[in-house]
Amino acid sequence: MRIIVTGATGFAGSEVVRAALRRGHDVLAVGGKNVPRAPDLKRVVNLDLTDRAKIEALILEEFPQAVINCAALATIEACDLDPKLATKLNSELPAQLAQLCFHVGGKLIHLSTDMVFDGERGNYANTDQPKPLHHYGKTKAIGEVDTLKYGREHAAIIRTSLLNGNSPSGERGIHERLMRDWSAGKVSSLYTDETRQPVSVSNLADVAVELCERPNLSGVYHWAGLAPMSRFDVGQAIAAHFGLDAEKYIKSGKRTDHPQHSQRARDLSLQLHPLAGKLRTPAQPFVDQLGELRVPRGLEAWYEKETGRKVVRLLEKGVDF
Ligand SMILES: NC(=O)c1ccc[n+]([C@@H]2O[C@H](COP(=O)([O-])OP(=O)(O)OC[C@H]3O[C@@H](n4cnc5c(N)ncnc54)[C@H](OP(=O)(O)O)[C@@H]3O)[C@@H](O)[C@H]2O)c1
Repeated sequence: MRIIVTGATGFAGSEVVRAALRRGHDVLAVGGKNVPRAPDLKRVVNLDLTDRAKIEALILEEFPQAVINCAALATIEACDLDPKLATKLNSELPAQLAQLCFHVGGKLIHLSTDMVFDGERGNYANTDQPKPLHHYGKTKAIGEVDTLKYGREHAAIIRTSLLNGNSPSGERGIHERLMRDWSAGKVSSLYTDETRQPVSVSNLADVAVELCERPNLSGVYHWAGLAPMSRFDVGQAIAAHFGLDAEKYIKSGKRTDHPQHSQRARDLSLQLHPLAGKLRTPAQPFVDQLGELRVPRGLEAWYEKETGRKVVRLLEKGVDF
């Protein structure tokens, strides 16, 4: 299939590009400020995705069979800093892509977030009504509704959870953020009363591409790992996996003791039904996700000193991974 991937330089998008190439698709990778890179990636374009005329020209020229939209302003903090840009990227962009996909007869796969919910109840079904706590969640919730306006059968929205994996910047993955703090001598205060359902970014990428390949699967879906976990338990499991002393680096805390973190939801766990029963890609337990994690670039010397373990880097067709 001819697939356009937007946000192709980001954490999710770079894995989606790899997954689509691995599955034999013809990929056009769209970057913003950075240039997309992947083994065997031949078609790349850089575009400001707030420019509606350029987006339209790209889709009409390419006539894709599917677009996977991974471009976003993807943190609470970034959206609070630039609310207008958040609205453009998180609400208006997916709606425009949905309209254009409808026009060219392609399918839009759009990534959304568990943060459309307020976290009061947890274990959310794909039919539950969003109730966001912050501008990020609001812009993503609006993006979902506006995307589906152009026909439910032309779009699949994947609400997902905390992404787990190796990011292109080496700074977005859960283990990357923790290990950068630990190597700088910081102790992480991780909450026992904040539940998410971490998902391997490569597993999510396979799901996004499989949804392109399955024209009958559309509408709003949930996808994450199999296990809801507290932030504290996630940190403990990561430290243990890397052979690092959790006692030294992690202390437990509670969200409720930190009023400045009132935007952080209590329990954003997701029900994976009905998508889990319909896909060939299986949802993963957290322990399987750990095997994919690498020591972040630049931290090798610190890590070797802390653990006595040697770090070996591999190159895949000339691209560091
Ligand atoms: N990260 C998570 O834990 C998480 C959890 C749940 C859901 N999600 C969802 O997953 C999706 C992807 O998130 P992510 O973490 O992969 O985001 P990310 O790493 O921050 O990547 C964002 C991407 O958007 C591109 N972009 C931003 N502004 C642009 C612009 N004006 N023009 C063109 N491209 C632009 C960036 O390109 P450049 O860098 O090249 O400018 C980058 O490729 C989002 O929809 C997010 O809501 C993420």
